[in-house]
Amino acid sequence: MAEGVTMEAYVSLATNNDYCHGAIALACSLRLTNTSRKLCLLISEKVTVDMREKLEKVWDEMIVIEEITSGDEEKLALIKRPELGVTFSKLHIWRLVHYSKCVFLDADTLVLTNVDELFEREEMSAAPDIGWPDLFNSGVFVFRPSLETFASLLELADKEGSYDGGDQGLLNLYWRDWSIRDAPYRLPFTYNVVANITYSYPPAFLRHRKDMKIIHFLGAIKPWHHRYIPSDGSIIMHPGADQSHYGAEEFIRKWWEIYHKHHSLLGPHLAGEIEHHELSSPFQPSDGERKASWERQAPDYHGVDQSDSVMAHIKSQVD
Ligand code: UDP
Ligand code: GLC
Ligand code: MN
Repeated sequence: MAEGVTMEAYVSLATNNDYCHGAIALACSLRLTNTSRKLCLLISEKVTVDMREKLEKVWDEMIVIEEITSGDEEKLALIKRPELGVTFSKLHIWRLVHYSKCVFLDADTLVLTNVDELFEREEMSAAPDIGWPDLFNSGVFVFRPSLETFASLLELADKEGSYDGGDQGLLNLYWRDWSIRDAPYRLPFTYNVVANITYSYPPAFLRHRKDMKIIHFLGAIKPWHHRYIPSDGSIIMHPGADQSHYGAEEFIRKWWEIYHKHHSLLGPHLAGEIEHHELSSPFQPSDGERKASWERQAPDYHGVDQSDSVMAHIKSQVD
């Protein structure tokens, strides 16, 4: 941190247009909480000019960074997310030394209520990871920008690598005593509630519903990969999504309401674009997954299984 600096900010990262949908909803959700802090987004060159214009309306500051990738395909295979090597780009946040303290939020998080009290915490405050609660999840954390920390993290990446091929495995190596540090470094789960994939514990979910502050849509399928029908607020889940998590749909709908409202406010041109434009999903279901969806009576009838495709298929069989 540069001397005398007292500004604080929420920070996120979006290296491509896909994650920018998340960044837009996240910034809108933060604004709805009337936060007094700045909003700063790191993007890469790949984010298009059109998208940057949309982002500028909701983020106070946007900084273009050069991507850093781990290139560690073997480790990334362990978390079944080959695309996450690029999360090493998160390390650039430690270079934001015009801020004294920041809260990092993954672009796939949504803030439900004002969480400015997080700035009273110190680096590295984070919540447990649901897969291994003695480690912290790196989707939500408090940090202090510092060029020394940035350099040490790069050095550690070089020496030891990351044990998940992404930032979480590296940050947990760097702050390896996190699980035995004092209580203030351990954020309550309500600041990083994973609400879209199993494992979940429905009774706790119900009991703590009113306390939830930040939702994290962890996993390969994000809210913007589902379809939203604005006229009745219904959600058509992506066929590859885990449909079993109790309460998931409520938060996916909340995400879409915030995202859709923002686009409507930007004027008819953009609102139309979202309503009629099929958000490109990188996850086309396999034939097996499609069959399973039909069998659960949940065909993707607005997507791959829409009537035109089905008719074309029948015709191709008849001809
Ligand atoms: N991210 C990004 N581009 C990518 C992948 C990830 O900008 O291609 C950023 C984004 O902020 C995202 C975070 O890195 O939220 C971590 O990835 P993700 O949230 O998909 O991981 P998960 O929480 O699902 O493990
Ligand atoms: C995790 C975190 C995410 C991180 C990824 C790769 O699941 O939620 O923030 O980028 O692992 O390390
Ligand atoms: Mn995430």
